Amino acid sequence: MPAFFRTGKLGHMTRENINPVTVPDYRLLAKKRLPRFLFDYVDGGANEEVTMAANMADFSRYRLKQRVMRDVGQVDTEAPLCGSRRSMPLVLAPVGMAGLMARRGEVQGARAAKRAGVPFTASTVGICPVEEIKEAIGEPCWFQLYMLRDRGIVERILERAARTGCETLIFTVDLAVTGMRHRDWRNGMLDDGSGARFAKLRQLIARPGWLWDVGLQGKPHDFGNLSEVSSEPVDLVRLKNFIASQFDPTVTWKDIAWLRERWKGRLLIKGVLSAEDAQAAVDTGADGVIVSNHGGRQLDCVASGVEKLPEVVRAVGAQAEVLMDGGVRNGIDVVKAVALGAKGVLIGRPWVWAVAGAGEEGLTRLLGVFQEEIRVAMALMGVNKIDELTPDLLES
Ligand SMILES: Cc1cc2nc3c(=O)[nH]c(=O)nc-3n(C[C@H](O)[C@H](O)[C@H](O)COP(=O)(O)O)c2cc1C
Repeated sequence: MPAFFRTGKLGHMTRENINPVTVPDYRLLAKKRLPRFLFDYVDGGANEEVTMAANMADFSRYRLKQRVMRDVGQVDTEAPLCGSRRSMPLVLAPVGMAGLMARRGEVQGARAAKRAGVPFTASTVGICPVEEIKEAIGEPCWFQLYMLRDRGIVERILERAARTGCETLIFTVDLAVTGMRHRDWRNGMLDDGSGARFAKLRQLIARPGWLWDVGLQGKPHDFGNLSEVSSEPVDLVRLKNFIASQFDPTVTWKDIAWLRERWKGRLLIKGVLSAEDAQAAVDTGADGVIVSNHGGRQLDCVASGVEKLPEVVRAVGAQAEVLMDGGVRNGIDVVKAVALGAKGVLIGRPWVWAVAGAGEEGLTRLLGVFQEEIRVAMALMGVNKIDELTPDLLES
């Protein structure tokens, strides 16, 4: 009897969800495929997850303005983004340990991004090193950096990224310490005791597909970009210990000046949520800022990215490129962010859910849906070009 009739599964798909289209569809597939503690690591936010929910909810405060009879025969979603033209104003955000969510997850993400014509960002704490990503896609990706205590190591990581041809560096500033992520505590993710290990083992056994595909065939599972610091396989306990011992919580704007001297490419500061910090970033030489609260994973109860976007655009939009992230779940959210002044948006969880649930092809399809949603929304708003999306096309 064919496996489909016994299991109801067709590849990654199930009878209930045979044709995933939207981000929630892929989230569901990822939930079915990932061990619970890994799913929750991606899905969850800090504390009561107030900010994580606001990131999404605040997009729905805005209404689009429908305009008719305006000749929309030439709608083009192409956008200038950090020095190149992209198929749409969207970037795959840095996500640590994506290679635990799908087999060589960063490579799958980067391949799908390339096919869709948008940039992929490798995280400092990714599984696949930047060299492996470059080799797989034949071009450099963007790189995201956390400041480590040992500046010598930071210099060498930057050299590695530059050697692959990387031109855009995202420096993340909102992780002086790790946020309080209750789901991870509850799942024993941050605990190395025997009780927690047993609980995780049970969750792993419940996902044999993941064990075979990612757990076994996706090795090695170390921090590929940090091979000189740590070559052990990673898990969340190690990630937490690594952050506590190696990340530098004493970082200030002076360190950006230090970084600016060493990084000749484009520098974006990610994790800014106020006009003052955005101005400080630009004054220190950043080419752009990313309005972000780390997907609601750091300080809970701060404002959403989309709420803070207009303030930052007013402050530095004329001098620097302003991008945003947090809660972007479809093409209409992208249109809203661009109309509010963002040059582009980043998506974090959506791309990871798609590769975890349906692999590179799934993510390629999802990015296609984003682009189509942007195109259709533009047409129905009477707009042909991305730079025609302006605040007067929004109502709230
Ligand atoms: C599982 C996970 C890991 C992340 N790891 C990183 C990271 O290594 N570096 C970083 O700058 N941001 C990291 N982020 C934050 C994302 O880059 C991005 O800001 C956030 O996911 C955007 O919100 P969204 O998930 O609602 O799209 C991570 C987010 C998630 C969900």
